[in-house]
Amino acid sequence: MLKVKDIETYYGSIQALKGISLEVNEGEVVTLLGSNGAGKSTTLKTISGLLRPVRGTIEFMGERIDHLKPEVIVQKGIAHVPEGRKIFPGLTVRDNLMLGASGRVKLSKAQIAEEAEQMLELFPALKPFADKLGWTLSGGQQQMLAIARGLMARPKLLLLDEPSLGLAPVLVQEVFHIIRDINTRGTTILLVEQNAFMALKVAHRGYVMETGKIVLHDLATNLLNNEQVKRAYLGTTKAARRQVVG
Ligand SMILES: Nc1ncnc2c1ncn2[C@@H]1O[C@H](COP(=O)(O)OP(=O)(O)O)[C@@H](O)[C@H]1O
Ligand SMILES: [Mg+2]
Repeated sequence: MLKVKDIETYYGSIQALKGISLEVNEGEVVTLLGSNGAGKSTTLKTISGLLRPVRGTIEFMGERIDHLKPEVIVQKGIAHVPEGRKIFPGLTVRDNLMLGASGRVKLSKAQIAEEAEQMLELFPALKPFADKLGWTLSGGQQQMLAIARGLMARPKLLLLDEPSLGLAPVLVQEVFHIIRDINTRGTTILLVEQNAFMALKVAHRGYVMETGKIVLHDLATNLLNNEQVKRAYLGTTKAARRQVVG
């Protein structure tokens, strides 16, 4: 479905991606792991067109997309939920959701409103807050809203950047539950996470990034047992592990 080949992306003269190649097949959850500053967010931003690669190609459903504008890429079926719950704080939950469908030009406002109601059914935690303003939501609720808004674009591929960041453990569980649920309903997912253990539990395959390069890729079950991964990325998630196992 998605084929990223040898992309190199810069911020000014700083090279953040030094030849990244990865693939996501239809139906998969693929996770992208790596420490802070490795280039995970930059990879997602390059795929969704917010940044342009200087070299390399990105193909989606057999078509080059690396020269397209972000709004065109959304229309092709890729939605990006950025890091840090960038919802609209001054708008209601319902209006936030409706804005998520703004790229779907063939839909009437009434149809979009109807889909927003359906989305609220899928996210029962949000439903009671439909008329509340974004800023009044808790961190966890804002994250749910950011994901739900991404889904309003009806993407074939959903890019999620650190959806569990800063959430209380019980909400982390809920976010991962939703990720699995969305995938089961047919959306392919590329997931960037700090919580490597949870991400590998939900993913089919994973890639590990270090300073702008992919250093490892394998089935998620193999990465969970990989000594290098355990040492570098699973050490700090003992609490999460206890939670899942226990
Ligand atoms: N807006 C920016 N301007 C300059 N450098 C940036 C910018 N955003 C990220 N970087 C740099 O690019 C590298 C990769 O960052 P990023 O993709 O955000 O990493 P990650 O998401 O893995 O933590 C880092 O060295 C970071 O400092
Ligand atoms: Mg990041």
